[in-house]
Amino acid sequence: MSIAVVVGTRPEIIKMAPVVKELEKRGVEFIFIHSGQHYDYEMSQVFMEELGLPRPHESFKLDNSNPASQMGEMMIKLEKVLEKYRRPRVMLIQGDTNTMLAAGLTALKLGTRIGHVEAGLRSFDWRMPEEHNRRMIDHVSHYLFAPTDIAKKNLLEEHVWGEIFVTGNTVIDAVDIYFDKIREVEDKVLSQVKFKEYVLVTFHRAENVDDPHVLRDFVRILGRSPLPVVYPIHPRTRKRLQEYGLWSQVEEIPHIQIIPPQGYFEFLALMKNCRVIMTDSGGLQEEATHPKIRKPVLVLRTSTERPEAVIYGFARVVGINPVVVLAELEKILNESLKLPEQSPFGDGKAAIRIVDIVVSRLET
Ligand code: UD1
Ligand code: UDP
Repeated sequence: MSIAVVVGTRPEIIKMAPVVKELEKRGVEFIFIHSGQHYDYEMSQVFMEELGLPRPHESFKLDNSNPASQMGEMMIKLEKVLEKYRRPRVMLIQGDTNTMLAAGLTALKLGTRIGHVEAGLRSFDWRMPEEHNRRMIDHVSHYLFAPTDIAKKNLLEEHVWGEIFVTGNTVIDAVDIYFDKIREVEDKVLSQVKFKEYVLVTFHRAENVDDPHVLRDFVRILGRSPLPVVYPIHPRTRKRLQEYGLWSQVEEIPHIQIIPPQGYFEFLALMKNCRVIMTDSGGLQEEATHPKIRKPVLVLRTSTERPEAVIYGFARVVGINPVVVLAELEKILNESLKLPEQSPFGDGKAAIRIVDIVVSRLET
């Protein structure tokens, strides 16, 4: 087999889906591997089903949960699989999770070329495990699929070794491909929301939720939000809120609806109908700019690796100080916003470009 595609967490499954679909459409054979990093149904399998992805040829059940040992375990398992399939020529990986670094290093050691989808993002925030991962992955990749010119510039400044291509971000393709499905679930999803108008909140970054002070500030923000909150909660954050004794405080907030992690269509239906998004997610900053979504985003972080969303006026990086965040929220709710009609993250043809390049390179 010439191509391997690796996924392991929620955002990778979503952002790789357009690439997988494009490979299938062209009849290009590939092996599909799931690392097992995300394992709950609603963090993984639901996306494979909704997005109509093939059943992985190989998927792992990981015994380790600490980052280094988990990565070691993934590398050992992945090496065996790559050997079994006679060392594919190219491995496609996406983004900046531990799965991706483990996959990248394994491919490097076996002489499999690495194609990195969403290369060149930089937050310049060394507290973030994702920043460690993406820097290392970019430096071992043969083909760097940068979503934007800014991402390409980051790569050029670091003198990466591989070839750089500006392709757009595949998440814009994903919203295009699945938009009709989002419309199909929209009424049902909205009938389950308790409020007419709401802020959509997600929050899961390690540097935020693993710090009890930051998590307490987050709970204060939720408690004082001037608009009701719909909050699909990430399992990491639920665990930390419980660990730090903050769970009951969140549950007691009258204007909050906490819901489990949502399927992709359901989540995008929530996004499409909210007033504003407050999040520390990466993908949400991109999806919010899609012409059919177009929502303002308050980024609950002190940095972003998606400055394009800020430049275009969709996102504001507001940190996590409750006074500042609530002031920004009030401000945005009282503004008449004019958001651009175009996304800075591409035109929905990223996967076509990526597959064109990969297929052409298989012959070299
Ligand atoms: C990971 C990525 C992050 C990405 C996020 C997407 C890294 C370093 N981080 O963070 O970049 O934004 O995925 O959501 O790779 N858990 C469950 N069920 C699951 C998955 C996780 O309960 O299906 C809980 C476990 O307690 C686990 C914790 O969440 O220990 C953290 O999971 P992990 O995959 O290590 O990191 P994420 O926070 O999900
Ligand atoms: N998402 C989802 N259900 C949810 C929350 C998010 O389908 O309950 C989707 C969202 O639309 C986006 C991706 O998951 O495509 C973002 O994942 P996450 O925020 O976990 O990771 P990040 O993008 O920060 O790496």
